[in-house]
Amino acid sequence: MTEGGWEEKIDVNNVFKLQPARPVTSFGVGAIKSIDETLKELKKKDIDKLLVVTGSAGYKNSGAWDPIEQALKENDIEYSLYNKVRPNPTYTICDEAADIGKNLGAKATMGIGGGSPIDVAKTVAVLLEYPDKKAKQFYEEGVVIEKAVPIIAINTTHGTGTEVDSFAVAQSDGLYKPLIISPNIYPTYSIEDPSLTRSLSPEQTIATSVDAMNHVTESATTMITNPYSISLAKETVRLTVKYLPMAIAEPNNITARYWLMYASAIAGISFDIALLHITHVMEHAMSALNPKVIHGIGLGILLPSVIKSIYPAVPEVLSAIYNPIIPELKGVPGEAEYAAKKVEEWLFGIDLTQKLTEYFTKDDIPKLTETALNPLFGMLLAIAPIEATEEVIKKIYEDSLVPISK
Ligand SMILES: [Fe+2]
Repeated sequence: MTEGGWEEKIDVNNVFKLQPARPVTSFGVGAIKSIDETLKELKKKDIDKLLVVTGSAGYKNSGAWDPIEQALKENDIEYSLYNKVRPNPTYTICDEAADIGKNLGAKATMGIGGGSPIDVAKTVAVLLEYPDKKAKQFYEEGVVIEKAVPIIAINTTHGTGTEVDSFAVAQSDGLYKPLIISPNIYPTYSIEDPSLTRSLSPEQTIATSVDAMNHVTESATTMITNPYSISLAKETVRLTVKYLPMAIAEPNNITARYWLMYASAIAGISFDIALLHITHVMEHAMSALNPKVIHGIGLGILLPSVIKSIYPAVPEVLSAIYNPIIPELKGVPGEAEYAAKKVEEWLFGIDLTQKLTEYFTKDDIPKLTETALNPLFGMLLAIAPIEATEEVIKKIYEDSLVPISK
């Protein structure tokens, strides 16, 4: 199989949205200064009150808050600060933040941080337009999102993708971690300034970049994938493999941070169009049942076994996107186990050595499997490149308990 083998597998009859509605995204070192211009734009639209949604410390440690606070003051925009978002945020957190926004009369939301604060800001933007409704009704009961107030996303990590996409994720207390999808929850404005990612810990650095790698592993292999998503996937993997070790060794290396943030953004665009499948569904089951699971680490735990399972169905695409790690792949089904072992080796090389036993035991697998198979995730499992049966899901969890190479 040649390097371009995946092109022959593209269904030319698949009509996709190459460019759905998107945020206006300011990208580059120093982009945070554009917050002033953004707030001026909002002011012109009569938006003079907003809810800031963030975690407890990162918004200050990252260096994002000082220029934002100054711009809010200078543009005379009244705000309330909700800084209690934790990783894997719950519906309760979304509802609590929305109440603060309602009390203020907020006409927009601003999420500062990684996926969790920005997703809560998106959810609150919806709740402000539906004051009688609760987050659960949108996440679990299928209430359609027809409107939301403007959302500003200030990204301080390099993994989430939420700053460029139309999704948000939240969870019930210890049961499910579903997502909402709506063109109305694209941020209106996004700011991606790589200098804000320099304070990420080594573990956050690894977890967020591995999240981006998983976004494209899935987006490039869904049943509804497209050439654009696959091209972005190839570039995401190439840049992550090149610059992640650099950022781990030198957290202040702004060139490395720039390219990792860029890789994460294009990965977000890739899965915004082509969606995700098995790995994210299975990880969401893990972090729903144990909120201590860090999203990117959970995905890294599952990735080798997922590759082993799906590779025979999509060898052309996976060999092309993983070329920077495993150039010897030919794109034939028989390489599945080899590819999985090599990806695991790469993960171990960047110090992501955890396996499923870090968070769960073998006895938890039936519950994990049942959670992953909840109908809330059915839409994503239906577009996986293989049939995601109970047996398949269970086997991937089992294979992820210990290293594949053992
Ligand atoms: Fe993710």
